[in-house]
Amino acid sequence: QNNLPNTFTDAETGIVFNSWGIPNGSPQSQGGWTFGMALPENALSTDATEFIGYLECASKDAAGWCGFSLAGPMTNSLLITAWPHEDTVYTTLRYAGGYAMPDLYAGNAEITQIRSSQNSTHFSLVFRCKNCLQWDHNGSTGQASTSGGFLVLGWVQAFPSPGNPTCPEQITLEQHDNGMGIWGAVLDENVANPSYSAWAAQATKTVT
Ligand code: HEM
Repeated sequence: QNNLPNTFTDAETGIVFNSWGIPNGSPQSQGGWTFGMALPENALSTDATEFIGYLECASKDAAGWCGFSLAGPMTNSLLITAWPHEDTVYTTLRYAGGYAMPDLYAGNAEITQIRSSQNSTHFSLVFRCKNCLQWDHNGSTGQASTSGGFLVLGWVQAFPSPGNPTCPEQITLEQHDNGMGIWGAVLDENVANPSYSAWAAQATKTVT
């Protein structure tokens, strides 16, 4: 897992991301895992409340799920879970008090999608996550502060698909089986971009 970010531009949308990941072929996770983040222009001086995320996760024949934790650990943090099903990538926002099936997140965060894709080995999703960098789950609060230029994030992925895959609020999961971890993600100046608002406006697709 890299701590210093890579910077890449998503070819289809032109969105510039700082990114971190597990390389394909590494022992921690079959197929690798990549997360990218783009932030509003002033996010390195004023804490942002939202981000645009890029997820590329391993998936065998369009099965499996992956996710990340916005505070690092699985517990007491906003969790984002994503999985492919037929032509759609679904997401659900979750929160876990312990190491068991996470609850539906009770706060007001919202994901809208910009684009998604799938092939036989991976799926990817570019999405806007509004109100995702501060959370309040029935009084359990926390935040990922962008003004410090450093986040602690967690990654996870699994090969079996969720149960009830077309009902994000009612999925069932087994304990993940394709790697997990916590890492320190340094943000550099490429993460905060004057085009953020224009990019965020492309997030028009709601998948529920
Ligand atoms: C770690 C169970 C779902 C994110 C763990 C660990 C357990 C566990 C037992 C610790 C394993 C170890 O340290 O060896 C479960 C079960 C789940 C579930 C039973 C569902 C039925 C999720 C989901 C996410 C997630 C949906 C995020 C989207 C993580 C992360 C870690 C982790 C990032 C590593 C950091 C940490 O140890 O806190 N999980 N998990 N998990 N889980 Fe889950």
